[in-house]
Amino acid sequence: MKKIGVFTSGGDAPGMNAAVRAVVRGGIYYGLEVVGIKRGYQGIIEKDFYDMNARSVSNIIQRGGTILKSARSDEFRTEEGRKKALKNLKEAKIDGLVAIGGDGTFTGAKIFFEEFGFPIVGIPGTIDNDLTGTDYTLGYDTATNTALKATDAIKDTASSHSRLFFIEVMGRDTGFIALRTAVAGGAEAALVPEKMTTMDELMETLKEGSQNAKTSSIVIVAEGNPNGTATEIAYKVGQKDNRYTSKVTILGHTQRGGTPSCYDRLLGSKLGVWAIEALKEGKKNVMIGDVGGKLRYTPFEEAIEARRKFDEELLRISKILAI
Ligand code: F6P
Repeated sequence: MKKIGVFTSGGDAPGMNAAVRAVVRGGIYYGLEVVGIKRGYQGIIEKDFYDMNARSVSNIIQRGGTILKSARSDEFRTEEGRKKALKNLKEAKIDGLVAIGGDGTFTGAKIFFEEFGFPIVGIPGTIDNDLTGTDYTLGYDTATNTALKATDAIKDTASSHSRLFFIEVMGRDTGFIALRTAVAGGAEAALVPEKMTTMDELMETLKEGSQNAKTSSIVIVAEGNPNGTATEIAYKVGQKDNRYTSKVTILGHTQRGGTPSCYDRLLGSKLGVWAIEALKEGKKNVMIGDVGGKLRYTPFEEAIEARRKFDEELLRISKILAI
């Protein structure tokens, strides 16, 4: 292997730049040429390539977002688009790829490998933490810290006005961000997709809080939970008991941006170097993970398909502490 390409794809995540930096510098350290690919798979199709050197990644480890930009490519979902991508990679003499992204990115990588045998290794980059084969995905730590900071701020005003607040967090169809934020933020409840909480159960929790002399409450709502959006849930609570006047805050994309935490910078640095070493060793079609501080390879299919185990223990603890 002489020349590799690196790209970021899907939703951006804090720490992606640390990973790009590590891939570029790790590649150079091992004598490889490194090509930056802009806008993920769409950039491969449009041949949006540029040569990178150690200085191309100076001063980026502390920046959120991704200097390589990101996109979700519909064209790459077609066979024609993927053939165009292969042709461009061959013309540029790129013989291996590092893909940084989440499940959509790895689904594309898996198909591309199955069709053409093209060597690709993946770095898990998504705030959702929904991949199997790594303790944390890149961006998850920063995103939860962002959500936590917002929750702390809201707690101050909730307590001053004796109010009930619903805070909606991201996570797609998983509740990892929500549960972590709820426990660390001292919330009264976390509504997550993995464990159904009925509206009656929620009303009961809120009632118990009032009976225990609580004057304000925080409920963290995962965007994918089955009861609806935070706004809908707040409305339903008001319908069931008109003594509640709830406020709603949707944190949205604030969780995706911002300065990456120390953890995400370290994780990106490790995974980037490991990805280069994996390609050099001839690994392909695998995601690079960090499990207990040690490198782990997980086939793309397993990383995407094996549903990451929900932390039942943390949910149990959150309920004990919410009295
Ligand atoms: O996968 C990351 C994520 O931020 C999810 O938590 C969220 O559901 C989704 O992406 C939002 O995607 P977009 O930025 O395309 O609206």
